[in-house]
Formats: sequence, structure tokens, C-alpha cells
Amino acid sequence: MAEGTMQKIVGLAKRRGFIFQSSEIYGGLKACYDYGPLGVELKRNVKDAWWDDMVHRRSDVVGLDCSIIMHPDVWKASGHLAGFSDPLVDCRNCKERFRADKAPRAEPGSVTIYRENGRKDGKKLEGVVPPQGYVCPVCGSGDLSDERQFNLMFRTSLGPVDPMQEIVNAIDDLAGMDTQARREKLASIIGQSAVYLRPETAQGMFVNFLNVLNSGRVKPPFGVAQVGKSYRNEITTSNLTFRTCEFEQMEMEYFVEPGTDEEWYEYWSQFRFNWYKSLGMRPERLRLRPHEECELAHYAKACVDVEYFYPFENPEGEGEWGELEGIANRTDYDLKKHSEYSGKELSYFETESKKRYTPYVIEPAAGADRATLAFLCDAYDEEVVDKEKNDVRTVLRFHPRLAPIKVAVFPLVKKDGMPELARGVMDELLGEGINSFYDESGAIGRRYRRMDEVGTPWCVTVDNETLENGSVTVRERDSMQQARIPREGIGEYFRNRLKTSRG
Ligand code: GAP
Repeated sequence: MAEGTMQKIVGLAKRRGFIFQSSEIYGGLKACYDYGPLGVELKRNVKDAWWDDMVHRRSDVVGLDCSIIMHPDVWKASGHLAGFSDPLVDCRNCKERFRADKAPRAEPGSVTIYRENGRKDGKKLEGVVPPQGYVCPVCGSGDLSDERQFNLMFRTSLGPVDPMQEIVNAIDDLAGMDTQARREKLASIIGQSAVYLRPETAQGMFVNFLNVLNSGRVKPPFGVAQVGKSYRNEITTSNLTFRTCEFEQMEMEYFVEPGTDEEWYEYWSQFRFNWYKSLGMRPERLRLRPHEECELAHYAKACVDVEYFYPFENPEGEGEWGELEGIANRTDYDLKKHSEYSGKELSYFETESKKRYTPYVIEPAAGADRATLAFLCDAYDEEVVDKEKNDVRTVLRFHPRLAPIKVAVFPLVKKDGMPELARGVMDELLGEGINSFYDESGAIGRRYRRMDEVGTPWCVTVDNETLENGSVTVRERDSMQQARIPREGIGEYFRNRLKTSRG
């Protein structure tokens, strides 16, 4: 991985319209991003590829689209209200607030060197690593607050009740109470109308288990898939869209008979790992990492992460393994919890064997934004075209299924009817639903390079021979080879190229 790769990717993402800082003209908002014209296509292609391979090409998976705000009892039953929190710590030296579980580890009692107030020109200080065994990730100080749990769910209120007005009305009562009583009073006022933005899409699939089952299309083993926004008030956000507060998930809950769960867990772990490879991700930058017992979420019997080697900068250098997707064996935890809290029997009756059971669930849970970022990083390449001339091209080697623009169409020159012919080619391709782009400005070589930089797999050029014999050139992004093909039937030609690129 070349030095400064991440910075170059961030620069390209902004310059060519993949990812922008949200509300940039107002100074931006921490860890909030917008997708530009090419980024929205890339992310949409990632989601479409997921839906196509997880739902449309299978007879055992159906889709769902649930609301982001759900009944607050959903989060009581799922354990998110009580347990979905991160350990938060404040650094007393540089004032950074960070997650204890992500902080750099160090031997308790050993010496740690840091700068006063975390400033580069601050006085050099010597401290001791506290018994918790970590230091501040920003300045290295061991002078830290105690850990406190911070719930990651965003709370808002639903309906015409204004909790603020109720709090104002209660101020006199609150004044005479001790801290604990005040907290309870305030919690009861806020709690009357409190609802939460979902922190995962998964719960929508569990609470609709009976609806999907009774609508008659499925029986175990079957899956319910959903793509949609989730929200977490993340303390530590970093590296573009890797960890943000608003993000999209692509999750599937696969309901199976208990006893067959371990087999299905293996199946889905392999299936999901291979999915990234099938979309061209470099195998050496992918791995499956099973969770240690102590890492497992409260609901999981087993979990494995598909990890990608991101080009992130860190104190050890460049590049680090990070989660792309998790595949968990959630057992019957969620269905049983929702049965308990809702009073509804969430089980399956198998008519042939007259057996009733609560299905186990295998959950492949991926992030659309994180996958899009990984595909972008993976596609990035700098290729030496001519060493002597110091000619290096930047190319995004996207799989054709993911490429935002599939075909660029150029007239060789802006005369002799070539622009009209080239526009005709583009219109035909657009009519076929193949995202295409017309460009007539600048030298042809520069136009090819501009398309390489945004990952367009094919460029079509209309030239003098087109006028003579009706053929056009097709230039391949990766090999830079060119071939002549007939102009006639060009829509079908690229439809086939896209189809065969699936492998
Ligand atoms: N239903 C299980 C679940 O939500 P998770 O590991 O917390 O599991 C699944 O999330 C995936 O969602 C992650 O692997 C990651 O790709 C994505 N994801 C989670 N939190 C994210 C965040 N703050 N920003 C971007 N993507 C996130």
C-alpha cells in the first residue's frame, strides 16, 4: 500500500463527486457525509448487488422495509435500552472523550510519556498507565476519568407532547429533590413520549416474524432481508464513512430449525466472504475473524467478522484490519424476548412432524456505507504506464457491476458529424438502462484518464472509421487495449458484457 493512500482517496472522493462533508458551507458536521453524483451511484450499485444476490436470486429469502421509529418496547425487549452502550472516558490532559474499549493498551503501572494539554509544543510529561490498562488515544496520557456507560441510541419524542414544557412545569418540584429522585422524575417525563431511531434494522425482521410467516410464502429455513438507515450516537468516529452516526445497513435474518443452526452459520459465513470476492475485492485484503468468547454480543452464540485491510493511517503505519460485516448465530434470543414482552407466540408449527419450535437465527449484517468505502479503497490503484516518462495513471478498478458509469462515449473530434453519432450511441445505451456519460472536451488520451479515475470500465470512441464503415472502438479500462466493434447492436454488446462480468 503506497504512503498517503487514504488521503489520496479522500481527495479523489471529493474532487470527482463521490463523498462530500455534510453541510460543508457551514463548516461541516462531525462524521456526517453526503454522497455526490458518482458516490450515490456506487453505493446504490453495492446495495443493488446485495439485494440481487441475497433476495432476487434466491427462493428462500424475502424482503422487508420497516419504519425507523418503532414502538419503544421493541428496544426494551431487544436489550438495547439497557445494554446498548459504550464505555466512555475523558482525558483530563487533552480533554479528548473516547471509547475505553478502542483505546491503545499499555501495561498498568508502566511509564507513559505525553505532552501537556496534548499540544505538540506542550511540556513533555511523564505519567503512569492506570490500572484499566490503556491511555488516551490522542495524547497518550494516563490521567483519565472513570468509565461511564453511554447509550448509543438517539432519543426523540413522538406526538404532540412537548417534554420541555413538562420539565419547565416541574421545575419547582425538582428543586426540592435529591439527584436520584430528579433523574427518575425527568426520566418519567421524557419517557411519556420517548421513541428511538433504530440502531439496527434487524429488530424490524423479528417483530414482523409472524406477519411474514402468515403471509404464506415461507417456511424454515428462510430469510428476511432489509436495507435501510440505522442511527447510533457513536463517540468515536473516523476515516470518512467507516464509522458514522447515520449509516445504512444490509441485514438478513435467516430462521432455521434449532440443531441446524451451526451448519447454516458456516454456510452464511462462507457465502458472505465469497460475495466480496465475487465483486472483485482483493482476496489478500479480506479475512474472516471469529470473535473471542469475551467479544460476543449478549444475544450471540457465535460470531465471525468479514474484515478488510483498510488503508487507514495509525500510529504503527498505514493499513489496518477493520470490520466490514458480522455473521452471528443469534440463537432464539430475539424471538423469545419479543414473545415475552409482546405476549405473542413467535414460534413455528411444522405440520408434517407436528413439531412446534422457536427458530434459531443466523444473521449476516453488513454496512452499505462501510462496504462502499471498502470497495472504493480496494479499487484505488496507481499504475505506472511509462516509467521513463514518469507517466502514472490513477485508476479505480471497480467491478463492472459496481462502477458508477459503465460506458463513456467520445467523438474523436468535435466535427464531421462525430458528436451527433456519439450522442446517438450514448442515448441508445441510456435507453438500455446502462449508465453512460458523454465527453467531447480535451484530448482523447486525457478523456480516457478522466474515466479511469472514476472507474469507468469501457470507453467508446466514434472516429473517422465510424463514418466509413460504421465501427467504433471500445477501450478497456484495465488493460487499456482497444478493439473495433460494429456500432450496430452496441446496446446488446454492453448488456452482454455486464451479464458475463457476473462470472
Ligand atoms: N444487527 C447486528 C448489527 O447491527 P453490527 O456489527 O453492530 O451488528 C453491522 O453492525 C454492520 O453495520 C457492521 O459490520 C458495519 O458494516 C455496519 N455499521 C455498524 N455501525 C456502523 C457505524 N457507526 N457506521 C457505519 N457502519 C456501521
